[in-house]
Amino acid sequence: MLDMKEDRAISTHPSIIVRPMTGADPDLDGALALSQAVSWPYRKDDWRVALELGHGLLAEADGAIVASILWWPYGDAFATCGIIIVSPAMQGRGLGRTLMEQMLDATGDLALLLNSTVEGHRLYERFGFSDVSTVHQHQARLPDSVPPLPDSAVRTAQASDLPAIVRLDEQAFGAARTRLIEAFSRIGTAAVIERDGVITGFAMCRRFGFGQAVGPVVAATAGDARQLIHHFMAEHAGTFLRIDISGDSGLGDWLTTNGLPEVGHVTTMIRGQRPAVAGEARTYSLASQSFG
Ligand SMILES: CC(C)(COP(=O)(O)OP(=O)(O)OC[C@H]1O[C@@H](n2cnc3c(N)ncnc32)[C@H](O)[C@@H]1OP(=O)(O)O)[C@@H](O)C(=O)NCCC(=O)NCCS
Repeated sequence: MLDMKEDRAISTHPSIIVRPMTGADPDLDGALALSQAVSWPYRKDDWRVALELGHGLLAEADGAIVASILWWPYGDAFATCGIIIVSPAMQGRGLGRTLMEQMLDATGDLALLLNSTVEGHRLYERFGFSDVSTVHQHQARLPDSVPPLPDSAVRTAQASDLPAIVRLDEQAFGAARTRLIEAFSRIGTAAVIERDGVITGFAMCRRFGFGQAVGPVVAATAGDARQLIHHFMAEHAGTFLRIDISGDSGLGDWLTTNGLPEVGHVTTMIRGQRPAVAGEARTYSLASQSFG
């Protein structure tokens, strides 16, 4: 039971329970209704994958799920958090703050990164998160035909490429995301750039929301990142495609020109120290705004 201060009490819902989220149908269905209530595009499967890869808390009032928060530890020093939603009828009454407190209790000393909407920004500042960069969401239904690039260095990844993809992602992200990469390769596909027998870049694409989502994209140069993204634009011509790029990727204008305009952006915020990155390759597109 939540212990809320008098001035924060939710008068119509005096008894709110915060508890771990499970993968059972009632939790997934309630979570889906919650994300739909704030017009987020999550499908039930997207919630399932998010929970399988991390941990979640739900707030329940009178048997209805009214708020969520999830987090994804990567190693023992760093995690991302996200899918922080309070149902519109319950917003502005301290529930977001309560969920943050409980998540911070659960994550202890882990450094935390999140991508904040305008609505969430004040809440996260209160908990010591500070702005570090931006993430830009590009999406649209692609034209029915997107011709492949003539001189593309990209090929579809094989199962045997997975260890190299995991290693490259770890160098660019700063922490190992083995389970995430394995899950994405099960529910989607990967493409790589290989030079002199070494994998120097990769991209993944999976079903998400209204269509397909491309990410992560890790590459040695912006030109390689464009080739990797184009590979999936050609593969998914005629369908809805989303990509969340880092603010300093330099890919925004190219995506817009190629039919994927920006539809919004979020602010990347951090609490604590993000692990250092290594190697030449860098992350051009996120796995998702929540996964980082
Ligand atoms: C962001 C959100 C989770 C906040 O939850 P909440 O229960 O409404 O927040 P709280 O009542 O605990 O308020 C926490 C702080 O945020 C501020 N806040 C809440 N909603 C806000 C809004 N829409 N715009 C600006 N500030 C807001 C409050 O004033 C409060 O600040 P204070 O401590 O200085 O008084 C909720 O508004 C929401 O679900 N929004 C839609 C989905 C979303 O954008 N989620 C964030 C994803 S990163």
